[in-house]
Amino acid sequence: MNSLVSVDDLRAGELEWVVRRSWELAEGAQARPVLRGRRCALVFLEPSSRTVLSFSVAIEQLEGHWIRVDSATSSLSKQESLRDTVRVLEAQGFDCLIVRAPWVGTAAIMDRWFKGSVLNAGEGVGEHPSQAVQDASVLAYLRREEGRGLGVFDGLRVAIVGDLRHSRVARSVGRLWARLGAHIVGVAPPTWSLAPEAFGAQGVVDDLDEVIDEVDVVYMLRVQRERLSDRDTVVDQETFRRRFALTAQRLERLAPSVIVMHPGPITRGVEVDDAVVASPHMVDGVQYRFGVPTRVALLEYLCGEDT
Ligand code: NCD
Repeated sequence: MNSLVSVDDLRAGELEWVVRRSWELAEGAQARPVLRGRRCALVFLEPSSRTVLSFSVAIEQLEGHWIRVDSATSSLSKQESLRDTVRVLEAQGFDCLIVRAPWVGTAAIMDRWFKGSVLNAGEGVGEHPSQAVQDASVLAYLRREEGRGLGVFDGLRVAIVGDLRHSRVARSVGRLWARLGAHIVGVAPPTWSLAPEAFGAQGVVDDLDEVIDEVDVVYMLRVQRERLSDRDTVVDQETFRRRFALTAQRLERLAPSVIVMHPGPITRGVEVDDAVVASPHMVDGVQYRFGVPTRVALLEYLCGEDT
């Protein structure tokens, strides 16, 4: 059994396999029961809807069992260390840990102590690798008539827009897609900006209008208010909307082929308007639809007999 702590854990051929397998599953192929008789712990120490649901449904399709562990009701609330939590899970026969946590490095630390698979389901401002793989599957699927598989990323111009600094999605999506040949540009207020190399970007600009006419994909991010620290200068909503939001007005400027993505949760009226969500550019529904097939494909790959 293998782990997925970072997007760097997947080599190109492995990623191609997972992506193509997720397409087959999305089109109705049966999952292989690689988790039959196996137990997974969904250790979710931060809120989640899409990710926790897609992992739990995926585990069921693979005929595994799952139990959710959260910070409020587990002994982590009694100051038990992560290391001791891992020892308990291992002694109780768990084979696989799916981990969401507020601290960067949690999945790597758990992976060091745990014998089975550890999958990073989003940690602090670190990584969210399964989201990046899912969105790579979605994008390549939407452009599949080109018959190029992941080759569609070669030269693809992508703007990742909004609160970059607090986004693990930006870090994983940017780094993975840049590796596949995409040209990534960040768009963020200076206070929520991020070093380009941290997310595979070639640069960061501070106004969406600078790049909106020159990109193939606009990947929008939520303002992650729960992560703003006292040191963050608050960007007032009016400035944020004027320079960084995908508003109904900016929607008019998008070329017909431009794809708009958002990992969710969306804050309508802040980073995107209702008209954007309702428009044919927006593919968040396809992203949600690929949540389960991508996690099934990843778990088949990581936990299959031959791995
Ligand atoms: C993201 C996350 O939790 O990092 N959501 C997700 O998993 N789909 C993005 C966010 O919270 O804004």
